Amino acid sequence: MPKTENCSRDAKIQGTAQLVYKDIKVDLDVVEGTEGELGIDICQLRKNTGMITLDPGYANTGSTISTITFIDGEKGILRHRGIPIEELAEKSRFIEVSYLILFGKLPTKAELDKFSALLAEHAALHSNLEHHFSGFPNDAPPMAILSAMLNAVSCYHKEFLDIVLDEEGFMEATARIMSKVRTIAAYTYRKARGKPFIHPNPSLRYCANFLHMMFSEPYKEYELLPEIEKALNLFFILHADHEQNCSTSTVRMVGSSRANLFSSVSAGVCALWGPLHGGANKMVIEMLESIHSQGKTAQEYLEMAKDKTKGIKLMGFGHRVYKNFDPRAKIIKKQVDKVLKVLNLDDHLLHIAMELEEQALADDYFVSRKLYPNVDFYSGILLRAIGIPLDMFTVMFAIGRMPGWIANWKELLDHNQRISRPRQIYNGPTLRSYVPIEERE
Ligand code: ACO
Repeated sequence: MPKTENCSRDAKIQGTAQLVYKDIKVDLDVVEGTEGELGIDICQLRKNTGMITLDPGYANTGSTISTITFIDGEKGILRHRGIPIEELAEKSRFIEVSYLILFGKLPTKAELDKFSALLAEHAALHSNLEHHFSGFPNDAPPMAILSAMLNAVSCYHKEFLDIVLDEEGFMEATARIMSKVRTIAAYTYRKARGKPFIHPNPSLRYCANFLHMMFSEPYKEYELLPEIEKALNLFFILHADHEQNCSTSTVRMVGSSRANLFSSVSAGVCALWGPLHGGANKMVIEMLESIHSQGKTAQEYLEMAKDKTKGIKLMGFGHRVYKNFDPRAKIIKKQVDKVLKVLNLDDHLLHIAMELEEQALADDYFVSRKLYPNVDFYSGILLRAIGIPLDMFTVMFAIGRMPGWIANWKELLDHNQRISRPRQIYNGPTLRSYVPIEERE
């Protein structure tokens, strides 16, 4: 039986902080994580004082104690289960990183083979599910299709709707979602273009199989370049998890009501869709294209992004957590250079992006607010080089983020975390009476 939630869980109690308000005085435990992060445990605050804390946007609120991903935003550190993202990006593949995130350890060869075989086995969609695609208009937003179809997959796997999955059941459900999300994505792309579906080929690796379903034709198999497969693996690795971001917190929020895994990740897709989160990769390319087509200089665009009355942002810049640099942005920028060289491509948008970055990093507005390129600033250029069209960018992010969402859903249940239910400070009208319509002014 999972333990009932304890706010501090296994983290060390490192002392107490005192809260004093009028004649209320309470001692609050200070909890220390394994990397020295400190948090004030307010689990009992309302019970003991009648007060709550107020933190819209949750920038100062820890919603859980987790063992999956560590980020130090000041130092630009990102580690999954302790292993730096730089090492994973250089030495690993997406499926191995997914295993690490999902199950807490690097897999042995036998474990990785078993997981890969499960992914290969479950890539196909039930034929009834394939028919669902004909119900969407050709120009439907791919993120809407992805979210709807992930929820629809649950209709064909009722055996996994029970939230108390044993280890084997969890792996089986996970393999289905991680494998099918890629098939749904590829079919969405093809349906929008009026092309026939290309079924998965179980003999291909994860990324190669995705590219096969996207770009093969009934009369011609997609020719895979090793550099493209590597670049796609890297893109997915860099998106695999990012602790309590908006979409992951959404998955946890939904899962906290004990909603099943399929509906929880489907909600994650919806949260990711927004331009301030996963939708930013698409917005970056749109921004770069508009700078190009309108013949603007980088400086002119930066001036617009700084002017609050314009409602324009420098997309792909800034991050809630990273305040010096986003380590993923550094890794992806290097890979973009390599891929473009191998493919002998010269993307004019890359030149505009580099100019924007250089000038923004020398501009007091961006420097003083600690705004640096995030992973989305260069990821769009990488996706373009792979051949992924703009409308599929955020879907690509969702495929990559799947292991992170699933691992967080599992952790929430393993911790038997309470249902997520924030409070509020009410600031509306105080008690007043109903006025009949004929007496209203
Ligand atoms: N361009 C111009 N100004 C910016 C930008 C930007 N990209 N980002 C933040 N600012 C400004 C804000 O207007 C604010 O200015 P002020 O202090 O004068 O009011 C200041 O910098 C602080 O910004 P916040 O809004 O407090 O930052 P927050 O942590 O709430 O938001 C976010 C972070 C959403 C990423 C924001 O920086 C942004 O909108 N960036 C552009 C969109 C983007 O790239 N999103 C991808 C995020 S990464 C990801 O999801 C993988």
